[in-house]
Amino acid sequence: MTHADTRARYDELVQPERVHGSLYTSPEVFADELARIWYSTWVYVGHVSEVAKPNDYVRKAIGPQDVIMSRSADGEVHLLLNRCAHRGNLVCEAAAGNSSSFRCAYHGWTYRNSGELVGYPFHQGYGGRGKLDLGLGRVPRVAVHQGFVFGSFAPDGPSLAEHLGDAAGEIDRLVRLSPEGEIELTAGWLQHRARANWKLLAENETDGYHPQFVHASIFSVAESGIGALYGEKSSAVTRAFGHGHSENDLRPEFRRLGAPLGWFGTTEERMPGYVAAMRAAHGEAAQEILVEGAPHVMIFPNLFIAEIQMFTIQPLAHDVTVQHVTAVQLKGAPEMNRRMLQQCVGSVGPAGLLLADDTEMYERNQVGLGELRPEWVDVRRGSHREHVDERGHTVGGATDETAMRGFWAHYRELMTR
Ligand code: FES
Ligand SMILES: [Fe+2]
Repeated sequence: MTHADTRARYDELVQPERVHGSLYTSPEVFADELARIWYSTWVYVGHVSEVAKPNDYVRKAIGPQDVIMSRSADGEVHLLLNRCAHRGNLVCEAAAGNSSSFRCAYHGWTYRNSGELVGYPFHQGYGGRGKLDLGLGRVPRVAVHQGFVFGSFAPDGPSLAEHLGDAAGEIDRLVRLSPEGEIELTAGWLQHRARANWKLLAENETDGYHPQFVHASIFSVAESGIGALYGEKSSAVTRAFGHGHSENDLRPEFRRLGAPLGWFGTTEERMPGYVAAMRAAHGEAAQEILVEGAPHVMIFPNLFIAEIQMFTIQPLAHDVTVQHVTAVQLKGAPEMNRRMLQQCVGSVGPAGLLLADDTEMYERNQVGLGELRPEWVDVRRGSHREHVDERGHTVGGATDETAMRGFWAHYRELMTR
């Protein structure tokens, strides 16, 4: 197919209020997405706190690509591809560690943690020492926002700031919850594999229509008020930021309640140390921060911040996706961190109820989408009652599919470029 043909094809398959089911089930579409989305746009890779010290490294991924995030001795963060320049072996086996170099196990080629080849055995075979000018592949562009490291395989294109747009403010909101203005992702990662297309996960992260049904049992067991945030009467909104990013903005509900830490299901009295530290750090602004709580934001295509936990979505095939999960930890807030870790394990840990509920839905969705008819997926909910806010973002009700339509509009733009 020519480029014009595939352009026309995606124009047809992605419409404003419906998308074609084959977009979730076709290996060819997945191959196109790797090229046009995962290897073109900005993708979240990791957080600087995961490579806190010089020579720390951690294995990450951009889609199916194995990426080493390293910090060289001079403090710079690098994104290197885990592929030996000799014959392609993995150069890094460990999930994380501290080392100034990586040595390939196959023939002993050794690379600095900034990617340069520093040595190879039996160098006469190459005409002597220092004759080879080969290094590890690298992600051409690396950019950091508030410690969040993003990479792009496209050497040129929009900057990270342009890509994030106003969604960057949601990351800032998360970071503000730390008395020291920094988060740390040091609690360790869980990995959940789902037999489902990655877009089902991305769409679900800010789908405010499903929680009352899919999570009814956990809400009732935990006597949680969260379900009510996603109802017809809720004053919460769904916002599409552009560039495929979206959020469930629950602040209107929390402001109505007006209780510090109400968003976290607790009270000021039970977190005295944290509240004191926040008031000392932020002064009068602390009240608002403590009432409004953490963001619930999906950053296209793979970073989801769900208040106190963080997810990254990693697609492996058209019908296989890994969700990496960790608890957010706020620097200078040990009281909160302990509870955030407990809540994270309870909701998305190995026996966690929330993630199990959602995963069941992704997988059933994937099976259903393989059926022949009807061919389309409907995403029109609430389109008649959307409005554009003062910053130019489309806003819908708490249960509307505004976020999904924003996701697909950006998807279509990338896939037809
Ligand atoms: S493949 Fe790495 S040294 Fe040969
Ligand atoms: Fe859910």
